[in-house]
Amino acid sequence: MEETLQRNRLLQEELDATNIGLLALTMELEEKNEEVQSITQQLWQVARMVTMGELAASIAHELNNPLATVSLRVESLANKLPPEDPKQKALQIISQEVERMGALVKKLLNFSRRGQRKVTTVDVCREIEHALELIYYQLRKNRITVRRDYQAELPLIHADSQELLQLFLNLFTNASDAMPQGGTLTIRVYEGHTDTDCVAIEIADTGMGIQPDDLAKVMDPFFTTKPVGKGTGLGLSICRHIVREHQGLITIASEVGKGATVFIKLPMIKESGHTSSQGVSPLK
Ligand SMILES: Nc1ncnc2c1ncn2[C@@H]1O[C@H](COP(=O)(O)OP(=O)(O)OP(=O)(O)O)[C@@H](O)[C@H]1O
Ligand SMILES: [Mg+2]
Repeated sequence: MEETLQRNRLLQEELDATNIGLLALTMELEEKNEEVQSITQQLWQVARMVTMGELAASIAHELNNPLATVSLRVESLANKLPPEDPKQKALQIISQEVERMGALVKKLLNFSRRGQRKVTTVDVCREIEHALELIYYQLRKNRITVRRDYQAELPLIHADSQELLQLFLNLFTNASDAMPQGGTLTIRVYEGHTDTDCVAIEIADTGMGIQPDDLAKVMDPFFTTKPVGKGTGLGLSICRHIVREHQGLITIASEVGKGATVFIKLPMIKESGHTSSQGVSPLK
């Protein structure tokens, strides 16, 4: 009798332990299930963004024709009016603005037509300026001042210019999102000679900054603190991928409430070849 009781007690304990184990497994499964659901939602979001990108590209493409028509009509009007006519000034402004729209449309189209990686000798500051031009309206809307500190006579690097454009666009978008009430975006570019010869780029904002716990995660795919529909959490992981493809380094530092700074190092090419950023039209 005593023996049976003892055995039952042991069996009961074993059963309790198994139950606890099962409970833990169920909780783990629930967690995994939530993770799968959230990743599925993020993938849908990415798919939506891809569609949006395609739509933007086709709109850019369709804008080419009406822009060309406006440009031609303005030119013909200007030719019909005497040079001293006061309307000439207005026509000149329209023509300049149409040209600016055309340039933007062209850049958008180039950006969306991604094919094979194409590595050439690239002037980093020129790519930064291209990205700033594309994001100009967003920065202006958020009342963000851009400060440039480009070292003169910077060496060229071997890079895919489209990928660099994508890198800077992602970083400037993040900086802009972090400063909805306005602020300053400071871009420094200089030669670095620490471990290897490189072009060093620092992109600093005066935005909300990143929580210390999040700092290690911000470059993980799908990590985002932005509301659904605003961010996919892919921007920085793409940036890291691009920098790695260029044998470079990317790090990020931040102080909550003060801002964030992204540090990038891209190895410079061995052959000598200098450039200046002259000819690049800075934003007004
Ligand atoms: N300059 C910054 N200031 C403050 N937080 C930042 C900054 N850059 C990135 N972060 C934080 O890192 C997260 C991940 O950035 P990431 O660019 O990868 O994705 P996202 O901006 O949220 O979405 P996506 O770029 O895909 O639209 C952001 O959600 C934000 O919390
Ligand atoms: Mg982003």
